[in-house]
Amino acid sequence: MKKTVVILGGTGGIGEAAALALAKQGNDVIIQGRDTEKGKKIGDAIVKAGGTAKFIPSAISSVEDVKTIAAEIKKLTNKIDVLILSTGTLNSDRKETKDGLEEGFLVNYLSKFIVDTLLLNELKNGEGRIIIVGAPLMKSATINFNDMQFKNDYSLMKGMGQNMLAVHMHAQEFAKKYGSKPSINVIHPGVVKTGIGRNLKGAMKFFVTAFTPLIGNSAEKSIINIVELANTDKIESGYFYPKVAKPEAKQKIELDATVAGKVWEESQKIAKL
Ligand SMILES: NC(=O)c1ccc[n+]([C@@H]2O[C@H](COP(=O)([O-])OP(=O)(O)OC[C@H]3O[C@@H](n4cnc5c(N)ncnc54)[C@H](OP(=O)(O)O)[C@@H]3O)[C@@H](O)[C@H]2O)c1
Repeated sequence: MKKTVVILGGTGGIGEAAALALAKQGNDVIIQGRDTEKGKKIGDAIVKAGGTAKFIPSAISSVEDVKTIAAEIKKLTNKIDVLILSTGTLNSDRKETKDGLEEGFLVNYLSKFIVDTLLLNELKNGEGRIIIVGAPLMKSATINFNDMQFKNDYSLMKGMGQNMLAVHMHAQEFAKKYGSKPSINVIHPGVVKTGIGRNLKGAMKFFVTAFTPLIGNSAEKSIINIVELANTDKIESGYFYPKVAKPEAKQKIELDATVAGKVWEESQKIAKL
């Protein structure tokens, strides 16, 4: 049956590839992105592939932007079968949003918390499968409760670590609250040849530029688990899929529940939800 698929970050490598693959299955696809030209081009490709396309042009530069994106999605549909959250940024230097958040905190983590919360009814009206494009946790990752926005001591690694840990904790808490309707799972796409390195500098830029073309997957390969999760009859929730094309390698997310609860409360306060 035809599904309603919503993709945040639908104009980037992995989100775009997921949009086209799910369009080929004849689905209705809504994508969000900040570049109207790209959005239009991908919309045309979605239609050519066999789906229908709608584009929401918006940057994610404040909590209000994310709330507006959720409101725009609600205007377009009252049911969501598949919600793919694929926005992401890697910043060597700390960048701040209009409302004073560390950009990675908003784009990589909080925007996902906000849309999952605000679109709960639409997800419940549909099949409600949330798929977050994430990454494995770094071993030393912690939540920096004293300075979650890294105003004092930012580094790419610390920011990435905290924000990805928060994503995994969000998935764990969400699954605990709602079971598998809506369901929520996090997938690692592997190393993928996309535009994600655009804001990197120095050694990290060199590493990503030199090695990703050699060892990276194509965006088309990276989405195998996304397409599987969008279609499987066996719906489960609260898992991390660490290996591309190997859903059997999934791991239940089992992090410190007290910290995860505190992250949820802080996120509600910051997002005023
Ligand atoms: N590529 C990898 O090797 C890799 C590995 C592990 C995890 N991931 C994760 O996969 C996800 C997708 O990344 P990708 O590799 O497909 O990168 P990408 O090509 O850069 O796509 C990222 C998407 O996020 C959007 N975006 C970034 N910052 C934004 C902002 N401030 N406001 C609105 N939209 C914004 C981009 O919009 P534009 O099109 O306008 O730039 C794009 O649609 C990310 O969460 C990333 O962390 C990627």
